[in-house]
Amino acid sequence: MADRVRITDVAPRDGLQNEPGVIATARKAELVRLLCATGVDEVEATSFVSPRWVPQLGDAGELVGLLVQSPLPEGGDGASASARRDLSEDPIQRPTLSALVPNEKGMQALIDANERAGWSVISKVSVFTAASETFSRKNTNASIGETIERFRPVVEIARRYGLGVRGYVSCVIACPFEGAIAPGAVADVTGRLVRLGVNEIDLGDTIGAGEPETVRGMLSAVQKAVGTEWIGGLDPSTAFRTTLHLHDTFGRAADCVQAALDFGVRSFDSSAGGLGGCPYASTPDGGRAPGNISTQLLVRTVREAGYACDVDDAAMERAAAFAMRLVADARRGSEEGA
Ligand code: HMG
Ligand code: MG
Repeated sequence: MADRVRITDVAPRDGLQNEPGVIATARKAELVRLLCATGVDEVEATSFVSPRWVPQLGDAGELVGLLVQSPLPEGGDGASASARRDLSEDPIQRPTLSALVPNEKGMQALIDANERAGWSVISKVSVFTAASETFSRKNTNASIGETIERFRPVVEIARRYGLGVRGYVSCVIACPFEGAIAPGAVADVTGRLVRLGVNEIDLGDTIGAGEPETVRGMLSAVQKAVGTEWIGGLDPSTAFRTTLHLHDTFGRAADCVQAALDFGVRSFDSSAGGLGGCPYASTPDGGRAPGNISTQLLVRTVREAGYACDVDDAAMERAAAFAMRLVADARRGSEEGA
């Protein structure tokens, strides 16, 4: 079994999609570059979703354009020289850059952005559905079945352009509207994504409801549905096919990581500084959606459990400090503008 853990930092996407203020695209690009210099395996850079639904990420195409410009516009904020390099200079060293795509229209916008750049800056796309019908409708205006149908052309186009496809399932433990979700429902949707042809599945505990026992139960159900070649198997070549995406609402995410490591999961999402939250997962009383497990906590948990990852702690601290400053400035700006 692989003793290495794969880490995807989702701060530029999950971290910024729910912020009230406006964040300049150049500063988002700076964050992506700082994260690329930390040693994480992947950075989820943005979403090609409807700007009416998520205005915060309506600049996805522009962001891709900025990521291939060298040098970046001066943003200050202590970005390191290595983080400022053109991402295309060192395609082997740089981590994978990925983005969310809900439908063919978003996929076409992503392909256009890559073509303008002249290479596949975003080399992996993430489609997203849920194990809860209510959440699926609130998040994407579609039933689970309809989201899967929307993904068909996305997967076909991704294949044509040689891009990887991650399939997210939200609400794998509980839904903010329906409450507890049966592990069988998660297994069912995961199986549909696998049959659709995704390369990776990503199981999202959207509201951080998980506990080690419920996470284990959910992973077992998924394993039964898709097999050990997808999750919890012994083959290092398939060890990174399943990712766990935890939000840390109740401070239990690190215990859930430990339970998942014991189960055989070797790939996790996290966000620098613990930013994050889905705008359509806010509690019915209007409370803010919770943040992801912080990358710093994930790295500590993974190392304490005896596994390796390539994250440089000092570089991650710099990226996290920048991410927090970005969000603090945006919140201050939105309060002043209110
Ligand atoms: P819709 O309104 O039903 O879309 O939204 P539509 O197909 O009816 O089209 C309506 C208009 O939107 C049209 O424009 C389309 O062209 C346009 P008009 O003709 O009226 O001018 N449109 C688009 N524009 C830009 N990009 C697109 C796009 N698609 C349509 N891709 C849709 C359906 C799925 C688009 C919408 O609901 C949406 O964008 N939802 C995204 C919500 C979102 O991003 N949520 C957060 C991410 S998921 C998450 O955070 C969970 C996760 O972290 C895991 C976890 O924690 O569980 C991943
Ligand atoms: Mg999330």
